[in-house]
Formats: sequence, C-alpha cells, structure tokens
Amino acid sequence: MKKVRIHHFREMKARGEKIAMLTAYDIATARIFDEAGADVLLVGDSLGDNILGQGNTAAVTLDQMIPFVRAVTGTAQRAFVIADLPFGTYEVSPEQAVASSIRLVKEGGANAVKFEGGRRMARQAEAVVDAGIPFCGHLGFTPQSENMLGGHRVQGRGEGAYESMLADALALQEAGAFMLVLEMVVEPVATRLTKALDIPTIGIGAGPGTDGQVLVWLDMAGMGDWSPSFAKRYAEIGKALGTAASSYVSEVKGGAFPDPGHYFSE
Ligand code: KIV
Repeated sequence: MKKVRIHHFREMKARGEKIAMLTAYDIATARIFDEAGADVLLVGDSLGDNILGQGNTAAVTLDQMIPFVRAVTGTAQRAFVIADLPFGTYEVSPEQAVASSIRLVKEGGANAVKFEGGRRMARQAEAVVDAGIPFCGHLGFTPQSENMLGGHRVQGRGEGAYESMLADALALQEAGAFMLVLEMVVEPVATRLTKALDIPTIGIGAGPGTDGQVLVWLDMAGMGDWSPSFAKRYAEIGKALGTAASSYVSEVKGGAFPDPGHYFSE
C-alpha cells in the first residue's frame, strides 16, 4: 500500500483519475475509509456540527481540532490527511496562518492544511506554502463566512460569478495551493474552473466535472435522519446502529446477555 503524497494529485488530474475524499474525525472511521481506498481524509471543522454538537463550524478552536487530527493521522496508512484551520485562526495575518498551520502539522501530524477564501486569503496561503506546508483552498459556499453569504446558498450564479471565482482560484493556485475544494458551486462553473486550473478541484455539491469529490462521512453513510440533497446516502448506518443498540438494551434487560459465550466461567 503506497502512501498518497502531494505530487500524486496533479498526476491523477493529468490522467483523469478521480480523487476520492471523505471527512474523518476519529480512529474508527479513519481506519475504515483508509482501507476502503479514500485518497484523502479531511479532518474538517464540520466536526463542530457533527461531533462536538456546537451547531456550526465557527465555534471550533485549534485546540479542539488537534486531538481529532492526531487520531486520523495516527491511523491512516495510505490516505493523505488534510486538516482544516478553524475560523479565527488564519484571517488576521499570514503570520497567524503560519503559526496555526504549524500546530496542525506538529501536534496533529497533518499532511496539509485547508482554509477558506480566495484573493483575500492569498497572502496567507503563500506564507503557509513558504513555511513548507501544503495548502488546500476552499471556495464557493464557505461555511465559516455563512453570515456574509446570507446562509447556505449555492454559489456561482449570476453575471460575473465565474470570472470572480476564477480570479480567486487563480490567486490561490499562484500562491502555491495544491488542491481546491469547491462547495455548492453550480456545475457549469465548477467544470469550467476545473478545466482552467492546473491544480485538482474537489467538489461537494458541485457536479461531476471536478477532479474529485468530498462528502461529510455522516451524510454519505446515512448516520443521521437527514443528508443534504447533494450527498448520496450509501447506507443507513444510523438505523443499523440504532437496531444494534436496541437489541443490546433489550437483551441486557431481559437477561439474555451476557450468555455463556460472553463471560469467563472461571
Ligand atoms: O469541514 C468540512 O467537512 C469541509 C468539507 C465540507 C469540504 O470543509
């Protein structure tokens, strides 16, 4: 099993091989997704919603991120691991972005960092790359700027939207980004951006024209009752887990568990 490295992504784009990315936040999911062949595991700040129950991503701190990043990097054998810089840990200055990124690499073991924003974050991106840390950009719907964007809104619509997004994407590519996530961008714009860029694009709700796809694993696996419309549910893991837990509870209450196969008689 060969470890996925940064140079593999451009090679994959060049030969038209799609890149599969999933979020992961802990050792159990990191092991399963790594063995399933995911090329990239993203320890996203979506853990604020999905794991920490904070109701948004903006509340996540760097200190909260690091143990989750460490769990995933300590488990993945093959997959490349990207960690998100949370809101408030990079916007202030290039120095702040570098200091925060160093923590994700040094304490979390991340292979690369991701943060949101285009031209306005190009100086930060360049500084992080200059510090020797691979950087992945994130354009389109950027959850950390949800208040500015007026909620969860599809991006790339309207006159000038493509040109503006292209300028953002080119600024990040020029700054040294090795990859770009495009979230909830209308398909024609995502496809045009993908063709215009040398670096690979990873779509989430951006259609089939990007160089790869990413989904939040709980949406992909059907962990909760609801998944966004762009996320295909490949299983109903939440229901399966609920059934297992109900059987356990009723066997404990009825005395059927533990049975002789599940305890030490001497
Ligand atoms: O935080 C996250 O999980 C993400 C993906 C949705 C791309 O940024």
